[in-house]
Amino acid sequence: MFQQPELSPWPSGFIWGSATAAAQIEGAAHEDGKEDSIWDHFARLPGAIASGDLPEQAVDHYHRMPEDVQLMKRLGLGSYRFSTSWARVKPGDRFVNHAGLDFYSRLVDELLEADILPWLTLYHWDLPQALEDQGGWTNRDTAYRFADYAETVYGRLGDRVTHWTTFNEPLCSSLIGYAAGEHAPGRTEPRAALAATHHQHLAHGLAVNRLRHLGASLHAGGETSDRIGITLNLTNAVPIDPSDPVDLDAARRIDALWNRMYLEPLLLGAYPPDLLRDLQGQGLEDVIVEGDLELIAQPLDFLGVNHYHDDAVSGHPEPRGSRGAAQPTARPKASPFVGSEFVTFPSRGLPRTSMDWEVNPDGLRTLLVRLGLQYPNLPPLYVTENGAAYDDAVSPDGCIHDPERTAYIRAHITAVSRAIDDGADVRGYFVWSLLDNFEWAWGYEKRFGVVRVDYTTGERTIKDSGLAYSEIISKSSASV
Ligand code: NOJ
Repeated sequence: MFQQPELSPWPSGFIWGSATAAAQIEGAAHEDGKEDSIWDHFARLPGAIASGDLPEQAVDHYHRMPEDVQLMKRLGLGSYRFSTSWARVKPGDRFVNHAGLDFYSRLVDELLEADILPWLTLYHWDLPQALEDQGGWTNRDTAYRFADYAETVYGRLGDRVTHWTTFNEPLCSSLIGYAAGEHAPGRTEPRAALAATHHQHLAHGLAVNRLRHLGASLHAGGETSDRIGITLNLTNAVPIDPSDPVDLDAARRIDALWNRMYLEPLLLGAYPPDLLRDLQGQGLEDVIVEGDLELIAQPLDFLGVNHYHDDAVSGHPEPRGSRGAAQPTARPKASPFVGSEFVTFPSRGLPRTSMDWEVNPDGLRTLLVRLGLQYPNLPPLYVTENGAAYDDAVSPDGCIHDPERTAYIRAHITAVSRAIDDGADVRGYFVWSLLDNFEWAWGYEKRFGVVRVDYTTGERTIKDSGLAYSEIISKSSASV
């Protein structure tokens, strides 16, 4: 029997939730007026997705939504983080699809009825393919289209949804999608990736501005309970040998590119000077228009932090001495952006999940604490994603005993508690994911759910990790 270490009482109002994303769970990819998103299109390209899986049906949440909300209720979730699909709400970005909006409206009603706080993300990577055909995020106009789409969603749901996230992990939808080519739209053009990054920042700023104005006019006297923020995937870039200047500089470059390129325009209204030096001549400065950074740096009500693992970084091409074998990584290769020097991600010999990501819960604690120290104007933090993929098996008793995922979640929740003890202002935790789902370029092969989905029958079964999470939630509410 696992002994949960003694934890301090959770802050009052601490939110326990789980997260999903439209393209990963909904299915119904071409129903009720929805048209292709870049993920529908990309997934059909030969070789794009492991074993050729498509998001076409995903886990059929579009049809099973009420059942899934009941599952959330059984787990005792206080909040559910989901995304709306732009290609469902405004297919091809041409007109408003009321049938698509109706789905989200019903979802919000079901959640409220079950006393679960809806936590809505406007962009979780599924741009309408029609916009990609016009340049996608390399086209500045897409940022303005995004603000219009945000307005459409707010217009329908703003009377009931109070927690709004503009983007989920813009690093992935810019660098991995436009430079590494491993995500939709599958482009491998570093300059395009930097343009995409900047335009997503701009889209974020425009949308925050738009939602604030709409909120003020929707609610009497301008008083709104809206909370508007963004979710970033952040990591500790750890030099494999902290006494080696080459490794230290590699870690600095990765930190600049993966963390600070996203944090600083939003929080400080500027790109990091060292990043601009690293990226000189690669096109970032060419797409920045005067006034953009002021627009981007809108005050935020929260910052969502997605964290799964740290990154051990080396500036040496080959492992040396005690470095151990360099491991393949699912993260984008940084070299096209960080100058000519090579960056590698060696193993520190820690246990790994089936994504080949290292397990190091203390990294989450370090990250949450250090963000507050680094940025004095940091808004409150929510861990908007954390979880692990492992190869689950259904036991003869019909249960899914997933001790590794259970241990992972427990250890990371402990790390969040310790971070709060150390002064981090963390107000919630969302496990990734509610359900097994379409894990992007990995298809259905990697299972992150605390609820198993049988991909043949659609049947849902709460895994041991889900039961453990549910117990943590109920015990924590008893303690506050
Ligand atoms: C972050 C992404 O937001 C989510 O969509 C993805 O499934 C998880 N990481 C796991 O890779």
